[in-house]
Amino acid sequence: MGECKKYYLTTPIYYVNDVPHIGHAYTTIIADTIARYARLKGLDTFFLTGTDEHGQKIEESAKKRGKNPKEYADEISSKFRELWDYFGISYDKFIRTTDPEHIRGVQKAFLTMWEKGDIYKGVYEGYYCVSCESFVAPSNLVNGEFCPECGKPTRIIKEESYFFRLSKYQDQILKWLKEKKPILPESRGNEVIRFVEEGLKDLSITRTTFDWGIKLPPELNEPKHVIYVWLDALFNYMTALGYGSEDTTLLEKYWPADLHIVGKDILKFHAVYWPAFLMSIGYPLPKKIAAHGWWTRDGEKMSKSKGNVIDPRQVADAYGLDNFRYFLMREVPFGADGDFSERALIGRINNDLGNDLGNLLNRLIGMAYKYFDGEIDSSNVEKYYGEIWKEVLEIVQPLEEKYLHKMQLHRFLEELWKVLRIGNRLIDSEKPWELMKKGEKEKAMALLGTIANLLAVVAVNLYPFMPKTGEKLAESLQLKIDTENFKKRLEGELLPKFKIQRIPPLFPRIEKPLLEEQTKPQSEKGEKKGKKGEKSAQKDDKSGANLISIDDFFKVQLKIGKIVVAEEIKKSKKLLRLEVDLGEGRNRQIVAGIKEWYKPEDLIGKLVVVVANLKPAKLMGYKSEGMLLAGKDENGLSLLTPDTPRKPGSPVS
Ligand code: ME8
Ligand code: MG
Repeated sequence: MGECKKYYLTTPIYYVNDVPHIGHAYTTIIADTIARYARLKGLDTFFLTGTDEHGQKIEESAKKRGKNPKEYADEISSKFRELWDYFGISYDKFIRTTDPEHIRGVQKAFLTMWEKGDIYKGVYEGYYCVSCESFVAPSNLVNGEFCPECGKPTRIIKEESYFFRLSKYQDQILKWLKEKKPILPESRGNEVIRFVEEGLKDLSITRTTFDWGIKLPPELNEPKHVIYVWLDALFNYMTALGYGSEDTTLLEKYWPADLHIVGKDILKFHAVYWPAFLMSIGYPLPKKIAAHGWWTRDGEKMSKSKGNVIDPRQVADAYGLDNFRYFLMREVPFGADGDFSERALIGRINNDLGNDLGNLLNRLIGMAYKYFDGEIDSSNVEKYYGEIWKEVLEIVQPLEEKYLHKMQLHRFLEELWKVLRIGNRLIDSEKPWELMKKGEKEKAMALLGTIANLLAVVAVNLYPFMPKTGEKLAESLQLKIDTENFKKRLEGELLPKFKIQRIPPLFPRIEKPLLEEQTKPQSEKGEKKGKKGEKSAQKDDKSGANLISIDDFFKVQLKIGKIVVAEEIKKSKKLLRLEVDLGEGRNRQIVAGIKEWYKPEDLIGKLVVVVANLKPAKLMGYKSEGMLLAGKDENGLSLLTPDTPRKPGSPVS
C-alpha cells in the first residue's frame, strides 16, 4: 500500500462444492479489512472475490446430488455471495468462472501461451488428487497413495494432455521470489523458494476424462480436452478486470494485483504457477501474495469433508459480526494456524473489547455528562497531557508501515490496544473526580479531551477491522470516518469542541457460551465419542502433570537487565555475545541465540528479562551467565521487555 494511487486485492475464488465456513470467512474478512483500509487512505481500490466452478471435483459433487454442474454451481455460488452480502463485505466484483467473459479470457490466455510455444501436447501418466485438483509427484505421495496436502487417496490417471513449459520459467520465478520477496510471511516465501529450487516439471494443463471445464480455444480444434481448473481459476484475477474482452479499462488501471490473499494450502499455485503463466503471456506479476494459516477444530483443518466446519453466520449472529471479525484477526498471528475456541472468542469480547475499549468510552461519556454536560473541549490537551498525546501518536503513526504492510494484523490490533490501555491508566492515575473536587476543572477537561482524541484515533484505525464499531465510536465522538479525518487523526490534529453522544454499551458482557451445540466437534456426537473422550482426558491428565507450584516458579529468578554490549560471534549463525547490567556492580556475559532477528547495534540500551540464577554454561567457547526471555512465532523471535522502563536488577515475578 505504497505511494501508488490504486489498490487491487483479491481473495481466492472458492470451490462451489463446499458451503462457506469460517475458513472462507476468515480470508474474506481479512481482505475486506485491507480493502477498507486502502479506501480510507484514499486509494482507488478494487476488491475481487468469487467462486471457482469448474473441474472434476465439482462435476462429481453435482452428480452425487443428482444435479447438473451448472445448476449446482448456481446454488452454492449464491450461498457464498449471500453470506458476503449479509456480512457487508465490501467487494467490488464477484466473479464466477462460468461467466462467459471469464471463459473467453481463459481461452485467450491459453492461445497466447500456445502461440508463444509454451504449450505442447503429450500424455500425463501419474497421480491426481481430485479434492485439491492437483497433480501429485510420486515422491510426494504419503504411504505411496495419499495426497500430501489433504490426506485423501489420489487416483492414477493416464490421459492425453497438453503441457505448459513450467520448467522454462524456473530461473525467472526464482529470481522474482528472491529479489522481490513477494510472499508474506517471509518464512513461507523461503519454503516456496526451496520448492522451486528442487526443480520444476512441466505442468499438465488439460484433461480429457470429464467435461466440466472450459474448452480449448477453437483454433486448436481439440474438442476432447478441457482446461485444467487451476489455469482456469487463476486467470480470474485478470478476466475480472476485462482481460480477453473488448473493454480493458479496468485491467489497464488495476493490473498488476497489489495483493492476493490466500490460505497456505494454495500458495504453490499462486506463487509458482501463476507467475509463470503471467510471464508467458507477458503481463506484470502481482506485488504481494499473503498466505494465512488454517482454522482447525481439535487440531484438524476445518473442511466440509471432515464434518468439523463451523458456520460463520451462526457465530456472527450469536456474538456479533464485528466481534467475530476482531477475534479472527486478533487471535491468531497471520500465517499461523488457530484452533477455533468459543471460550477464546468470549475472552476476547469480554476483555479486549468490553474492558479495554467499551469501558473507556463509557467512562468518558459518564464523566463528560457528570462534569460538563457532555461537552468536550480539547484546547488544553497539549498543555496538560502533551507527552501522553505524543506517546499515542508514536504508537499509531507507524502502524501501517510496520504491521499492515507485512500483514501482521494481530500486531496492528495489539498495538492499537496499547493506546486504549494508556487511556484507561490515565484515568486511574489522574483521578478526574479528585481534580474536580480540587477545582482543577481545566485539567479535568484536558483529561477528557485526551481520552476523546485517543478514542478518535482508535476509531479510525479500528474501522477497517470492525466497521460498525468504528462507526458507532465515531458517532459518539461526532466524527465522520473518511479519508480526511483519517489523515487528520493520524497527524495528531485535535478534535474541535463537541458534545459527546450517549450510545448503548458496545460490548455487553457474555456470561456463557452461546453456541454450545454447534461448535461441538462432529466426532463427539458420532460413534467416535468414546475414543475422543479418552484422548482429551489424557490430554488433561498430561497438562495436570505439567503444572508446577508457585514455589517451584519462584525458584527461577527473573530480573530486568540492560544490554550494554552486543557483538556478533563471527563463527556462529545464531549467537550474539551480550554484556548485561543486572544491577550487580559488574556486567554479566550472556550468549544468546538471537542473531537471526536482532542486529547488535539495535540491542544496546534495551531492557530485557533475564533468568538470573541459571547455571553458567559455555557456548562456542564463551561463558554464558544467564538467559534472555523471548517469544517466537512464525514471524520470528521477539525479546520480552518491560512495558515501561525499570531499573536494571529489578525482580520480575
Ligand atoms: O482452493 N482455514 O478453493 P477452496 C483457513 N478454488 N482458511 C481456509 C480454510 C481453513 N480451514 N478452509 C478454506 C480453492 N480456507 C480454489 C482457489 S483461487 C484462484 C482458486 C480458505 O474453496 C483459504 O483461503 O478450497 C483457502 O486458501 C481457501 O479457502 C480455499 O478455498
Ligand atoms: Mg480446498
